[in-house]
Amino acid sequence: MAEKIRVMIPEDKVDARIKEIGEAISKQYEGEEVHLICVLRGGSFFMCELAKRITVPVTLDFMSVSSYGMDTKSSGVVKIVKDLDDSIKGKNVIVVEDVVDSGRTLSYLLDMLKDRGPKSLRLCTLLDKPERRVVQVHVDYTGFEIPDEFVVGYGLDYAQKYRNLPYIGVVELDEAAK
Ligand code: IMP
Ligand code: MG
Repeated sequence: MAEKIRVMIPEDKVDARIKEIGEAISKQYEGEEVHLICVLRGGSFFMCELAKRITVPVTLDFMSVSSYGMDTKSSGVVKIVKDLDDSIKGKNVIVVEDVVDSGRTLSYLLDMLKDRGPKSLRLCTLLDKPERRVVQVHVDYTGFEIPDEFVVGYGLDYAQKYRNLPYIGVVELDEAAK
């Protein structure tokens, strides 16, 4: 079945908002350094664009997590598929995510990172779906709050596709192709 993508947030709006968040972070951490942690794979496009807009010194690291599966979903336990390369001890860490949905992944991840002794720990997400929240997480920087719809683009995928779209879109089945 063919899919069609409806634009939810156009490219210029996403870019403008990322610039604003970059400015906010640069202001908040003035005179300090920030260490961005990208949650792969979805957070990668956002993190790169965001990092370009931050004017204080930036270092980067990457981590990949996956959910343990349906049966343990309620426990919110996630498996670390790829851990960070560097220690975060004493660093101003900002976790960069594509979307906060149920909040399970982030809640687990933030607790785990907190135990590693960062100087500060904040969360920055491009998208937030507050209606979907099951576990409360404190989000420090949000690009856009969106309704409960499945979105793609800017790092977000549907069956691994569409991550490269430069805007946020909603997948729709093409009526003509049904
Ligand atoms: P949660 O907040 O633990 O439920 O999981 C968030 C993760 O689910 C995100 O990092 C995405 O990988 C994935 N996800 C949630 N909503 C969407 C969506 O609308 N499109 C694509 N991936 C999504
Ligand atoms: Mg993600």
